[in-house]
This record gives sequence, C-alpha cells and structure tokens, in this order.
Amino acid sequence: MGPLHVAIIMDGNGRWARSRGHARFFGHVRGVRRVQEVVQEAGNLGLSALTLYAFSTENWKRPEAEREVLWRLLRRFLKVETPALLRSNVQFRVIGDRSRLSPAVLSAIRETECALEKCTGLQLTIAVSYGARDEIIRAARAFARECFEGSMKPEQMTEDLFSQFLDTAPLGSLADVDLVLRTSGEQRLSNFLLWQAAYAELTFVNKPWPEFTAGDLRRAVQQFSSRKRRFGGVEGARPSETPQESRT
Ligand code: FPP
Repeated sequence: MGPLHVAIIMDGNGRWARSRGHARFFGHVRGVRRVQEVVQEAGNLGLSALTLYAFSTENWKRPEAEREVLWRLLRRFLKVETPALLRSNVQFRVIGDRSRLSPAVLSAIRETECALEKCTGLQLTIAVSYGARDEIIRAARAFARECFEGSMKPEQMTEDLFSQFLDTAPLGSLADVDLVLRTSGEQRLSNFLLWQAAYAELTFVNKPWPEFTAGDLRRAVQQFSSRKRRFGGVEGARPSETPQESRT
C-alpha cells in the first residue's frame, strides 16, 4: 500500500541559490514552483495528506529581509493558488504558532481556509512558525488548563487524547505521518512533526528543494510502497492496532 500522509522538509533553497551566484531568497522563489508541482502530483498519486514545512520556529532567527521574502511568497502563493486548489478540491490547513504571525499573513491564511472550507480531497497542511516541541508544549498547556478547570483528569491522558490537543488534530487518524521526505541531503528531522512521525519511514533526497520534481515525489512514494512496516508489531498493522507496550 502507498503512503497516506507524506510530510516534506523543503531544504536547500539558500544553498541552491548561492551555488549559482544568486541571493538566498531566489532559492525560495524557485522553491515555490516546486510546491505548486508537488501539491498537484500528490493529488495525482492519490495521497490523502501532504504536509509541507514552510517556516520553522527556528527560522525566526533568520535576517528580517529573508523572513519578509518568505512571508511575501507565502501570501502570494495563497492568493494565486487558491482558485486552483479549489478546483482540485484540496482541503487546507496551517499548523504552528499563529500568535507570532503578522495580520497580513493571518488574513491571507484565513481567506484560503475560508475559500476551501467545503473541499473534501487531499488534505494539504502548511507548517508555518511551526516547531514540534512548541506544538507539544502548547498541547501540554492546553491539557493542564482543562485539568485545572476540572473538565479533565491527569489519569485520562492517553496517546489518542494527547493527539487531540496537537495542531494536527483535525486530520484525525491521518495525523500520523507515513513518510517524511527531506531534500538537500541533510539527514535530520529538525523539530518537524516529532510526535506524528514516530513510526514514519524516512527518505532523504540528495537534491536541493528547487530541483525536486514531481517525478522525485513519485519515486519516493513507489519506494515507500515496497517497504515493510511493522509498527513494532506484525506486518500490516497500523500503530493504533498495535498495543502500545509492544511497539519498537
Ligand atoms: C529551507 O531552505 C527552506 C525554507 C526555510 C523555506 C521553504 C519555503 C519555500 C519553499 C517557499 C514558501 C513556501 C510556500 C508553501 C509557498 P534553506 O533556506 O534553509 O536552505 P539552506 O539550508 O540551503 O540554507
């Protein structure tokens, strides 16, 4: 079976641009084209969910000029692509800490969310101002608040309940990632979906993001289909069907 949920760390934009004598931001500009191509291919391949890491909590440390380019590209992407996403019936969400986003970025996100509200196809999630540790801490705080207010008890906490406090809760059973793909040859998760990727297969592609094509995604998905996943139990079972104690 193919992966249902693919999550991509789009890495290597800056290095790609610098190695060609361009400013780093040019790599992000080219990177957006790849986003458009990959979203379309995800639909063609019949994936159920695609999550893209566009801006991490650590990326706030980048120079303001580069951050501004990234925000402008995200806003333009949302504005230009929303009609096409609507035609393709794409469901859209953003995960991450929205409290740090500017009003302009927030309103662009809300417009796309609103326009695609009734879609039922591919679940596209863009991670913006996202860090998995930050997400887990926000979830822990929200649960602690419920306990403090008396609507929940610490003993009630389970993996399933905790998942409901994470940003990916609206994805339901699809929140668990099947395949994490990272471009540019780096072999790290960089604080991306640490909870959701607990049993994910990992694929590292030795190309910078601006060179990643629809064909590369197709190949990674085909390779995934030939891997055998056991979730620490027996072949064929998904994590929710495997008792927690026996997972490895
Ligand atoms: C990593 O490359 C990439 C990013 C930090 C941003 C990714 C953003 C885009 C592809 C464009 C905007 C996104 C959307 C969804 C419209 P890097 O700059 O860290 O590359 P480096 O490691 O070579 O420096």
